[in-house]
Amino acid sequence: MSAESFAESSATTPSSDAPLLVVNNLKTYFKTDRGLVRAVDGVSFTLERGRTLGVVGESGSGKTVLARSIMGLLPKRDVERSGSVKFEGVELVGADNSLMAQYWGDQMAMVFQDPMTSLNPVMRVGKQITEGLRQHLDISKDHANQTALALLSSVGIPEPERRLRQYPHEMSGGMRQRVMIAIAIACGPKLLFADEPTTALDVTVQAQILDLLQTQQRDRYMAMILVTHDLGVVAGRTDEIAVMYAGKIVEKAPTKVLFSNLRHPYTEALLSSIPKISDPSHTRLKTIGGRPPNLINPPTGCKFSPRCAYATDKCRTEEPPLSAPDSDGHQFSCWFPVELSAKQTSGVR
Ligand SMILES: Nc1ncnc2c1ncn2[C@@H]1O[C@H](COP(=O)(O)OP(=O)(O)OP(=O)(O)O)[C@@H](O)[C@H]1O
Ligand SMILES: [Mg+2]
Repeated sequence: MSAESFAESSATTPSSDAPLLVVNNLKTYFKTDRGLVRAVDGVSFTLERGRTLGVVGESGSGKTVLARSIMGLLPKRDVERSGSVKFEGVELVGADNSLMAQYWGDQMAMVFQDPMTSLNPVMRVGKQITEGLRQHLDISKDHANQTALALLSSVGIPEPERRLRQYPHEMSGGMRQRVMIAIAIACGPKLLFADEPTTALDVTVQAQILDLLQTQQRDRYMAMILVTHDLGVVAGRTDEIAVMYAGKIVEKAPTKVLFSNLRHPYTEALLSSIPKISDPSHTRLKTIGGRPPNLINPPTGCKFSPRCAYATDKCRTEEPPLSAPDSDGHQFSCWFPVELSAKQTSGVR
């Protein structure tokens, strides 16, 4: 289907009244020789303009596939994608690449984990920024250069003139990640995905980059989806948190509500794996027992049940649905939710 016919046939036309992003029962399955990998298995949420959502879960829980599926950046073959992704009211599931190209960069952009694999190693940093600008904004070379300079300054890169002439390998990891952020925000996207943007960096630089993302998000009134395996990272930096396990959201709540009243045993386990400041030095880090589930043959019932200290026969046979939001906007999928206040069991950094 062409971009025009897709837009015409789309049930909804763009609307500034519609929420920025509405994801409904999104599924993304990969066909492999070993079977169907249910990487994203029925995810739904809404994100309003200027708001931040943290997506948290262990390795393999489907966080990156969720982000890529929303953006329409999936392999061309052997993928089944269904459900709905509406961006300002326009359906993007089923849209072809020519329509999606109008969204990439302009409307939504992504900062990846490892800038070295996303930056072109043989192109000067300045050109990598100005190319995107000129392609999307139809501006002169001079104008693009000036904008690139301003962008580098705004992401905290000193001596931006000199940096524009450098190649990625001449920069530190933190600087490269700043460049990636500059490229991602260059065209003023309304939605920024940051997929583990700091895991390749050391701890002090991590905090600087997260602070930078937060400042840019607020200053530009962008919505942001911050993807991480570390609940500590999203604690003070998001409005809402969605906890993912085996391709599904198992708990979702406004950030403060989640930390004061978590209900899912998996969230509890994730939280207790964060080191506490009060722990004596050399305390062993807690890990979550057992292994993440096989997404081709997941366990029956609640997928967390084989690793859950509280699991009963019911948990092992019947999958709990995600509850409707309560008055605090809190949802969880558990037959026997955690009762203890999270404050008593954790020490959030
Ligand atoms: N192209 C693909 N083909 C087959 N399986 C895939 C493909 N891409 C991802 N997967 C599988 O989908 C599941 C979810 O992967 P995903 O990369 O989203 O995890 P993640 O939560 O981002 O993990 P991490 O924290 O390690 O980045 C994994 O089991 C992964 O192996
Ligand atoms: Mg990932």
